[in-house]
Amino acid sequence: MRILFTGGSGKAGRHVVPYLLDHGHQVLNIDRVPLDDPRVDHLDADVTDPGQMFDAFSTYANMGELDRGEGGPRPFDAVVHFAAIPRNFVTTDAETYRINTLGTYNVLNAATKLGIKKIVFASSETTYGICFADGVAKPDFLPVEEDHPTEPADSYATSKVCNEATAKAFAKRTGADIYGLRIGNVIEPHEYATDFPHFFEQPEVRRRNVFCYIDARDLGQIVDLCLATDGRGYDVFNAGNDHNSVHLTNAELIERFYPDVEVRRELGEHEALYSNRKIREELGFKENHPWHQYVSAPKR
Ligand SMILES: NC(=O)c1ccc[n+]([C@@H]2O[C@H](COP(=O)([O-])OP(=O)(O)OC[C@H]3O[C@@H](n4cnc5c(N)ncnc54)[C@H](O)[C@@H]3O)[C@@H](O)[C@H]2O)c1
Repeated sequence: MRILFTGGSGKAGRHVVPYLLDHGHQVLNIDRVPLDDPRVDHLDADVTDPGQMFDAFSTYANMGELDRGEGGPRPFDAVVHFAAIPRNFVTTDAETYRINTLGTYNVLNAATKLGIKKIVFASSETTYGICFADGVAKPDFLPVEEDHPTEPADSYATSKVCNEATAKAFAKRTGADIYGLRIGNVIEPHEYATDFPHFFEQPEVRRRNVFCYIDARDLGQIVDLCLATDGRGYDVFNAGNDHNSVHLTNAELIERFYPDVEVRRELGEHEALYSNRKIREELGFKENHPWHQYVSAPKR
């Protein structure tokens, strides 16, 4: 596929974009900063500017495309939209909300009006209202699956809930396939060594992530699976790995953190409480990078 990818230079994108390239796709990256990969075409553009989005979404990706002599650029086959302020505390709350909601509206607006029928966008685990809650918020039930309420109270997560509603509206109006990924805490390859020992020592630091994580390369697989799937209209998936990011068993986690939370089905001993069951069962996701491959849990 010829893919327009926004935000490909960031923490997640710099692993997802190479995954897509390795799996035969062509990528034009749109970001404020370049992605250091010679295989990627890059345009400096601002997703909050609707004119720039229409222009970028209908452009030649590189000099080579001029050689086709087709009287204009070909349309992109798909859009992957990751560009955003990726959490609270980066800029002011209102700026986070403005950039994330306006950027997503502009991307979906330009893509669908230019006839692009496949869009994958980054939503977030934070939509469930736990990550950036004031004080301790617990899930309504476990495991956290896609039917869990999304009623956050902070700027970042609310921007993502708004984006999901926007995506649903564009899918309804245009018939495009628009899939949102409720991405868990993204872990880059080097972070198994730097971060996981701390998670084992102090499991409570993972409470706000419902103990979940997503390997950045496995996120690449999830995006690719979404690109290969058609016909679902608007849909949303949790994007996480198979197991919790701590070494405690679910029985121990529930006793310590969730003693009064309803458990809705039988859980594997270490099965992710932030469930990836839907993406596994419905799109065929098979994780390639469980944390156990890169770091050892302390002996117990
Ligand atoms: N990192 C995580 O743990 C995590 C978890 C859940 C969801 N997400 C979502 O995944 C996506 C990627 O997150 P990330 O961690 O790679 O973030 P990041 O900040 O590392 O990358 C985002 C990229 O978007 C670009 N960008 C920001 N504003 C832009 C604008 N106005 N125009 C063009 N480009 C712009 C930035 O330059 C950056 O390269 C985001 O939508 C984020 O909200 C991330």
